[in-house]
Amino acid sequence: MPILGIIGSGNIGTAVARLAVAAGMNVVIANSRGPETLSDLISELGPLAAAGTVEDAAKLGDAIVLSIPLKAVTDLPDGLLAGKTVLDTSNYYPSRDGRITTLDDSTVTTSELVQSWLPGAYYVKAFNNILAHHIPLLARPAGSPDRSALPIASDNTEAKAEAAALIDALGYDVVDAGTVAESWRFEPDAAGYTRLYLADESTPDDQLLNSMPGITPKEKVESTLASATRVNVAERIF
Ligand SMILES: NC(=O)c1ccc[n+]([C@@H]2O[C@H](COP(=O)([O-])OP(=O)(O)OC[C@H]3O[C@@H](n4cnc5c(N)ncnc54)[C@H](OP(=O)(O)O)[C@@H]3O)[C@@H](O)[C@H]2O)c1
Repeated sequence: MPILGIIGSGNIGTAVARLAVAAGMNVVIANSRGPETLSDLISELGPLAAAGTVEDAAKLGDAIVLSIPLKAVTDLPDGLLAGKTVLDTSNYYPSRDGRITTLDDSTVTTSELVQSWLPGAYYVKAFNNILAHHIPLLARPAGSPDRSALPIASDNTEAKAEAAALIDALGYDVVDAGTVAESWRFEPDAAGYTRLYLADESTPDDQLLNSMPGITPKEKVESTLASATRVNVAERIF
């Protein structure tokens, strides 16, 4: 079983950590404030979990889940994730991250941008298109008839395979969504983003945080990604 390093102990980082320890994986989790602030979470996660610094999580993890605000990625130490397979959950929200011209004008996808900020890392986009509270609710053991699927995108075949095996162990089937340049299909506002996992896809935006998920099998994820059209990121106000 690989050790999972998790950088970011917020909504997504914690949800993935819960699945990892449930699957028997060791996790080392870090946040911006330091390991001493994670004692409650570590108590809840149990003996397979440890708190660490960002450097600890990066060094000890065989694979790394990077789940911090997009604007914080450039604050990470230079070369931190070189040589590591990194599952990046980042999305671009201008209200939080500030406006980024190359994203607004679709020169690059958010994944291409983050990949460019992590030289030497084996970059994979994952876990960015599902609401955090849906992650534990939809996870199922391999072979379950009611399993849901998550898309991943990467330019690196080996890293993609490693990420797919990890996500399978955590409770999801995996859909290969292509390269990082193609990952716009499951960025915010695109067809492949969060709403496909809702039990009621007409749920109003202001009720999403209390929404119930619905089983979302591989075939639905594949057809949804295929039907996606690229959104105009410059129009995004949130
Ligand atoms: N929430 C969702 O449903 C959801 C769904 C899909 C994708 N995403 C995306 O996934 C990413 C994480 O979202 P989230 O909702 O999990 O965020 P969050 O709840 O706000 O948590 C962010 C975490 O990042 C840590 N952090 C911030 N700057 C850091 C730094 N420089 N070094 C180390 N850790 C740092 C924070 O540390 P402290 O706790 O010490 O402040 C916190 O633990 C975002 O890009 C988000 O858009 C979120």
